[in-house]
Amino acid sequence: MCGIAGYIGDKSASKILFEMLKRLEYRGYDSAGIACLSDDSVVVFKNKGTVDKVMKESGYEAITSKIGIAHTRWATHGEPSKENAHPHCDSKGEFIVAHNGIIENYRDLKAELMERGHRFESQTDTEVIPHLISELYVDSFEEAFREAVKRLRGSFAVVVLSAKEPDRILIARKDSPLIVGLGDSEKFIASDTPAVLPYTKRVLILDDFDYGIVTKDHVTIKDLQTGEEITKKVHEIEWDIKQAEKEGFTHFMLKEIFEESEAVKNAVKALPDIEKIAKKLKNYKRIYFLGCGTASHAGFVGKYLLERFSIPSELVLGSEFRYSTVNTIDKDCAIIAVSQSGETADTLASVKDARERGAYVVSIVNVVGSTLTRVSDDIIYTYSGPEIAVASTKAYVGQLTSITLLSLYLAKELQRISADYLDEIIDDIHSLPDKIGQILGNEEEVKGLAEKLFDKKIFFYIGRRLNYPTALEGALKIKEIAYVHAEAYPAGELKHGPLALLEEGVPVVAINPNDDLLEKMDSNIQEAKARNASIIVVGENGALKTPVIDPILSPILYIVPLHLLAYHIAVLRKLDPDKPRNLAKSVTVE
Ligand code: F6R
Repeated sequence: MCGIAGYIGDKSASKILFEMLKRLEYRGYDSAGIACLSDDSVVVFKNKGTVDKVMKESGYEAITSKIGIAHTRWATHGEPSKENAHPHCDSKGEFIVAHNGIIENYRDLKAELMERGHRFESQTDTEVIPHLISELYVDSFEEAFREAVKRLRGSFAVVVLSAKEPDRILIARKDSPLIVGLGDSEKFIASDTPAVLPYTKRVLILDDFDYGIVTKDHVTIKDLQTGEEITKKVHEIEWDIKQAEKEGFTHFMLKEIFEESEAVKNAVKALPDIEKIAKKLKNYKRIYFLGCGTASHAGFVGKYLLERFSIPSELVLGSEFRYSTVNTIDKDCAIIAVSQSGETADTLASVKDARERGAYVVSIVNVVGSTLTRVSDDIIYTYSGPEIAVASTKAYVGQLTSITLLSLYLAKELQRISADYLDEIIDDIHSLPDKIGQILGNEEEVKGLAEKLFDKKIFFYIGRRLNYPTALEGALKIKEIAYVHAEAYPAGELKHGPLALLEEGVPVVAINPNDDLLEKMDSNIQEAKARNASIIVVGENGALKTPVIDPILSPILYIVPLHLLAYHIAVLRKLDPDKPRNLAKSVTVE
């Protein structure tokens, strides 16, 4: 949610910043901007529109500076416009800021600064930062910056330039991610690792209340409160640059769907951690899965799996947990937080509250070193690699695999399943990548179905038990990337109201694994058929055909054709599935 970038070194800052922004565009894409220092003066260019559009307008290739900052925006305060785009400057144009997060006390700060003669040009919360630094400046950029940041409430990752000290970029973080990529005589500041991958794999990860002074040769990180220097570990990024490229696919989303076989294999790599964590989990009386959006659907499958093994469990949404469920949390509770990015504000806030109440927190996370991994007791990485498309696909498959393994090992610890049964299912899990490959091999058929359906106005997705979350996830995907209204229901609920919406030709996607509920599902399908709805079955004999699999693994397999279907419908509707309107990846605001 908003991408920020900074460069200092011997190369053309504007070209590098453009490339970095392109890799951060999934975090927001309604406006963009760049500020570079040239001959002790500042060049700022910003506007509404995508990174490509704004950077072309800026004539960035002609900017010869070797130090600069840049931003790609997802609007929170103030509509997408040139004025509200970052970077923002103080009235004298001496301090220039790009920011990700929300400054909660900006109204008070703005009023105070206006009384002191500062003129504001935007509706953003961010603009108070450069004005505040300017107000507090005596003779040290660092001191003014530190004092200003100490007065901010809310969440922030900030990068700041000043013509007064043109050899440095100052940075700070609280509740919004920020890393520094370390090159020889050059440094790269970014919201996320894909932005620095082409240049370096060595990064420093800032923690909350860290601030830093970045020059081309050094990075000094200090504590915001005490001003004392902090020694930071250098992390080696294991991701390959190719993983963050489209590699011949039309869209990142399609590439990432085609990586779903690999996502299963990668998630299995965490098995040793999963086994250890299952042994700890068995001591807790209540287990909650926690997440937002797609990650919550993965957690929902987890709840059904645990219940299947007679282990009570609940799903709680990150945006709701801290306003209600938290009151019931104590040291007997375990929270399994699920998140691709590890930066989702609602999930993080819930985890922090739960830990304060003594809960044990395990996180299932994709991004190594992300904030969630730092506030959890234990971590299960899904190792899905970078997910660039805004809509989560391969990460969901990775999350489902980790959750299934964890549920199985916990069931074994609690003697709800035998070691033989566990071995059997693990063998089946190893067969999943090939089976996903078979579904992907049928892409043309899915595309053919999409051609018949792409102009429909409403879709229904129905499933039961473990595949009710599959219905939710299938519906979410088509809503967010194809802008088609979609409803997901437990199949048995159709007759309690939504059936009234069914009429001739309305597509009903029925997720129908070959299990003990097959007949019940068939009855629900007949109810829809009797209203002349168009039924699309996902299953062994369905129009969206899936290979034979143990039903408890069906959510991992059955989501694959639904991801493909949503993708092709979006493309046929001439939409960019990688960048759905109004959305951004990594939702770092509550
Ligand atoms: C939907 C989607 C979102 C995310 C949600 C949580 O396709 O991607 O619903 O799943 O914003 O994000 P993470 O998993 O990063 O916590």
